[in-house]
Amino acid sequence: MEVIIKPDAVAVSKEAAGIFREQLATKPESVLGLATGGTPLGLYRELVALFTAGRVDFSQCTTFNLDEYVGLGAAHGHSYASYMQEHLFTQVNIDSARAHVPDGLAPDVPQHCEAYEQAIQRAGGIDLQLLGIGGDGHIGFNEPGSALGSRTRIKTLTRQTIVDNARFFGREQDVPHHVITMGVGTIMDARHCLVLATGAHKAAAVAAMAEGPVTAMVPASALQFHRKCTLIIDEAAAAQLSRRDYYRWVYDHKPEWQRV
Ligand code: PGA
Repeated sequence: MEVIIKPDAVAVSKEAAGIFREQLATKPESVLGLATGGTPLGLYRELVALFTAGRVDFSQCTTFNLDEYVGLGAAHGHSYASYMQEHLFTQVNIDSARAHVPDGLAPDVPQHCEAYEQAIQRAGGIDLQLLGIGGDGHIGFNEPGSALGSRTRIKTLTRQTIVDNARFFGREQDVPHHVITMGVGTIMDARHCLVLATGAHKAAAVAAMAEGPVTAMVPASALQFHRKCTLIIDEAAAAQLSRRDYYRWVYDHKPEWQRV
């Protein structure tokens, strides 16, 4: 795993935006895996700015979001579908017919999950998958204990995730308990995984993910097996990494031809 430590959240977002821009410049028809939550907001702002400046083009790409709350339709203000509309889809030239978010109102959830997996396959698989990491080590909504080979399916949120996400809903009672999420196995199939984390509250999860044992108790740790995973974090989120000086050394001495 490549670990990139940046001074702050803005620098993390800019570095990540550069990777997205490069991906789309190299392969305009890329399939992008997208994430929601607080962490990617800065990245989406950067991508919108790059688009406005004519430096990135989304017209040929396809997107698949990681997850959605069961019971919330696309029009619901707290659904991840509406988050994506607000922060990215309506701000750039993504073809809405190719922007996919799991349907929180799907009448047959297992069938919908299977169809979502098939749609990813039909699109050619995910080229670049954006990920945040939960304080409990989840990726997507794959909570601790999730099978490391899991596919898109329904999951029950942990108490910690419900408390963490209550800030978006105002009241803890309003956070749905169930979600549809790509599985760890679905995420591992992406050709490049890009994990972003900022803030001291992510430091323990980041260390467990990058340097701890690979375990279903920290689903993000499965990424240690990924052939191309880039972790971009700020200083606060890097605080518990025992090899952070080495990661800085590697980044500072990266040969030009290896730079993305
Ligand atoms: P956050 O969530 O970006 O809102 O901290 C990350 C996650 O739960 O994956």
